[in-house]
Amino acid sequence: MENKEVTSIRIGVLGYGNVGKALVNLITDQREPILSRTALDLSVDVVAVRDPKKHSDLEVASPQITGNAYDVVVSDNIDVIVEVIGGVEPAKDLVQAALNAGKPVITANKELLAKHGPELFRIADDRGLDLLFEAAVAGGVPLMRVLRESLKGEPIQRVMGIVNGTTNYILSKMSETGMSYEDALAEAQAKGYAESDPSADVDGQDAASKAAIIAMVAFGAQLGLSDVSYEGITEITAGDILFAKRFGHTIKLLAIAEQSPNAIGVRVHPAMLPNYHPLASVRDSFNAVFVEGEAVGDLMLYGRGAGGDPTASAVLGDVIAAANNLTQNTNNGLGNLRTTAIQATEELESAYYINLEVADEPGVLAAVAAVFGKHGVSIRSMEQEGLGEEARIVFITHSSKERNVHSTLDELRKLTCVIQIGTKIRVMGH
Ligand code: NDP
Ligand code: HSE
Repeated sequence: MENKEVTSIRIGVLGYGNVGKALVNLITDQREPILSRTALDLSVDVVAVRDPKKHSDLEVASPQITGNAYDVVVSDNIDVIVEVIGGVEPAKDLVQAALNAGKPVITANKELLAKHGPELFRIADDRGLDLLFEAAVAGGVPLMRVLRESLKGEPIQRVMGIVNGTTNYILSKMSETGMSYEDALAEAQAKGYAESDPSADVDGQDAASKAAIIAMVAFGAQLGLSDVSYEGITEITAGDILFAKRFGHTIKLLAIAEQSPNAIGVRVHPAMLPNYHPLASVRDSFNAVFVEGEAVGDLMLYGRGAGGDPTASAVLGDVIAAANNLTQNTNNGLGNLRTTAIQATEELESAYYINLEVADEPGVLAAVAAVFGKHGVSIRSMEQEGLGEEARIVFITHSSKERNVHSTLDELRKLTCVIQIGTKIRVMGH
């Protein structure tokens, strides 16, 4: 690079798992091209892990490895911190300590930001430092930058999409190859897509954390994980997937953040989408997100939502942005997040797929249909399957209030002819 003075940026990476390893490799590979394009000479000087003995292969090489992450965040020899440990503690203390020591932080940790984002963004802004988090939502898809920069002035109405790679991988494998839920989850873990505790993926919490972050960024709203209503994919059976196929639909886990006149609604739940819907064809660990804005109309972003390399790519983009800002003594904050009313999901309307296990005896259908009618849930179609102990009735309702669907299910549970309420999945995208 001619004319421009080279700035050395010494990076401390906290965590050397799927993402940390991929990041160290990517920075090592891309050091020269980045230097020639940006005049930034990036080097990972220290990596902190929980158990350095597990990483003895790194001991003789550069970077240095340590079991004491606190030493790294306060070190005078480190300029930028990358947090890819995950979880709330000690990640929160470490991020705070790094910011208090005057270092910008890049994190991929959605759980931390969904639970403590507003507090941490305030600390970063007060100190004029970056706290960047592109990798925390939708892995390698540059959604945060698009929302924060390209769409900064856009009145955004809704952001909706598939933001968890693990559950999308599981649903794709179950649907396309008939693989069991357990085997598909084990594959997603082996490929480095899942959280260290994968229950966060399958129960919807990971997608809910991402939805909360999306709402903070898209609407400037101060909210957190506790404001998001979420359901995961653990109740979805091979039978539900087969039914969806016969019905010309695909089951996807959706995250939705939307602005209504007086409130913001943020939710995560599985949905049956018609096969012609663009999100229905998003397979494997891919993520895709629709942004609906008043001026821009509809936008869709698509890419790898999980895995070491795509996530490392997003982290590296943030490292370069933070390093540039550091050299110019500036930062890119989220600004003031405003408190906002949260929309109650009970008032939302959707069509539903409802699967009931029932006694195989006369009068069952009439008794069940009467309960739907009593609560104002109108039935669009009905299929009876199986005989004897296998008897099931599958309903598709017309668009109905969530509150009414819940009261219908509560009353159905009390009928002696209803043995079990199976899955309830929203039918959307028509
Ligand atoms: P891993 O579980 O693979 O790695 C976690 C790393 O953190 C390990 O190296 C572990 O050390 C280290 N660690 C744990 N506790 C401490 C501690 N107290 N001090 C120092 N180091 C510690 O996680 P991932 O790499 O998969 O994920 C990291 C983060 O990135 C998470 O927040 C995750 O949600 C997020 N993310 C992950 C994506 C993915 O596809 N995997 C995609 C997007 C975001 P040790 O090796 O000694 O056990
Ligand atoms: N476990 C997460 C997922 C990693 O599967 O989407 C990416 O955030």
